[in-house]
Amino acid sequence: MSQSNPFPDPTKLPVHVAIIMDGNGRWALKRGLPRLAGHKAGTENLRRVIRACVEFGIQYLTIYAFSTENWGRPREEVNGLLRILEDVIDRELKELDDQGVRLRHIGRLEQLPSHLQAKVIEAVKLTQNNTRLTLNIAFNYGGRDEILQAVQHMLRDGVTAEQVTPETFSRYLYTVGTPDPDLIIRTSGELRISNFLIWQAAYSEWYVTPTYWPDFDKQEFQKALETYANRDRRYGKVSSAEYEGNHA
Ligand code: IPE
Ligand code: IPE
Ligand code: MG
Repeated sequence: MSQSNPFPDPTKLPVHVAIIMDGNGRWALKRGLPRLAGHKAGTENLRRVIRACVEFGIQYLTIYAFSTENWGRPREEVNGLLRILEDVIDRELKELDDQGVRLRHIGRLEQLPSHLQAKVIEAVKLTQNNTRLTLNIAFNYGGRDEILQAVQHMLRDGVTAEQVTPETFSRYLYTVGTPDPDLIIRTSGELRISNFLIWQAAYSEWYVTPTYWPDFDKQEFQKALETYANRDRRYGKVSSAEYEGNHA
């Protein structure tokens, strides 16, 4: 039996949700399993959360899968994470395509093994005309790296000082074409940005939960969206309700 969408009012739903999928290692440790088992469980959970996004009508989902700093982990773990990305493309691409998911990659592709680069490019190309959900996979992504790349690119293009506006700058970021995230979720309780979307997050709402990523289920995702629906986004101004009250 299909359930009705708990978010019938699309104006209360974030257009773009970004997730720092954290806590896989601790999830595994708690069970006496190797860290890679935690990453695999995290991938299973990602599949569920993508389905929920499609069902609820989220338009953009950005997931932080591997940071520019994660190269500093033990070689075995780094190789395992690269392999997981490859497996996900091999095994999930068809279902993602069937669900209407458009895949994009954000980050430094050229530092990945060449066969993996080719797979990512192929997956992006195959799904480029899908419109239901845009899924940005941040793999080998760093916010500082993104900003430096943008500056270098602008200089190479001969962009003048006067032309450097927020709009121009945003067009040089990996996220070009994606609106800024409305809601950023971080699992596992850490209260830091860890180099994720540092430009784009200027006015994002945050939801942090102690739940480890592999356990962050549809119910908790729904709770995050409900919390978001009740936030008052002021963007440095005063809330419209208060303003109207004072001037009635
Ligand atoms: C997040 O889980 C996934 C990646 C960073 C690749 P972690 O691997 O950071 O898990 P913890 O934080 O060690 O528990
Ligand atoms: C952030 O998590 C990166 C990803 C989720 C891919 P980390 O586990 O790498 O972040 P820190 O080291 O706790 O800041
Ligand atoms: Mg972590």
